[in-house]
Amino acid sequence: MTDQNIFLEKETFSKPLPWKEEFGRKGKLILEIGFGKGHFMRNYAKAHPEYNFIGIERFIKWVRHTQARVIKEELLNIRLMCGLAQEVVRDYFEDQSIDEIHVLFPDPWPKRRHHKHRILQKAYLELFHQKMVRGGQIHITSDHKEYFDAAMKEFSQLHSSLFEIIPKTEDRFKTNYQIKYEKEGRPIYFFQANKK
Ligand SMILES: C[S@@+](CC[C@H](N)C(=O)[O-])C[C@H]1O[C@@H](n2cnc3c(N)ncnc32)[C@H](O)[C@@H]1O
Repeated sequence: MTDQNIFLEKETFSKPLPWKEEFGRKGKLILEIGFGKGHFMRNYAKAHPEYNFIGIERFIKWVRHTQARVIKEELLNIRLMCGLAQEVVRDYFEDQSIDEIHVLFPDPWPKRRHHKHRILQKAYLELFHQKMVRGGQIHITSDHKEYFDAAMKEFSQLHSSLFEIIPKTEDRFKTNYQIKYEKEGRPIYFFQANKK
């Protein structure tokens, strides 16, 4: 297992990327957006070696951090890409190909003039819908009540034929932020949306 096997430099791959060939097998495609230090994805990938995981993270520093741990733990079912998730999802995934998308503690961009940077907004939810298999799931976790409520509202304003909202109170695996915030006693909010 080498650095090149894990970290896929976008420029060197075709669009969309043939994921079955990349992993050398079929398998559920699980995507994590903004994986940071990678705690959630590594634990999920260990528990489900039969699934194929792709992490997208905008900062190379966190890609390198997670890459080193993925190699050490020999997690053959993880690939990492560096870039803005909106662009990577649009360019590197076929329609109706992703089984799960996890957006965990996304940057809240609290100032109104920065809301355009939020990943949980109508245009990207529609993009995710297009790229997901029927019955595919989006999982969202946040400590930021205003962003969480705004995201729920964005879902509720989409056409009702797109997603079913499923209430949720916890996740099976924790992110680094979740561990930190739980220690501080902060409230954490969860929800799931399934593609109809
Ligand atoms: C608040 S941190 C949470 C990290 C991790 N999910 C956790 O819960 O421990 C948000 C992460 O998302 C990344 N990020 C923010 N916007 C992104 C985007 N549009 N595409 C990819 N990564 C993004 C940031 O660089 C950062 O690592």
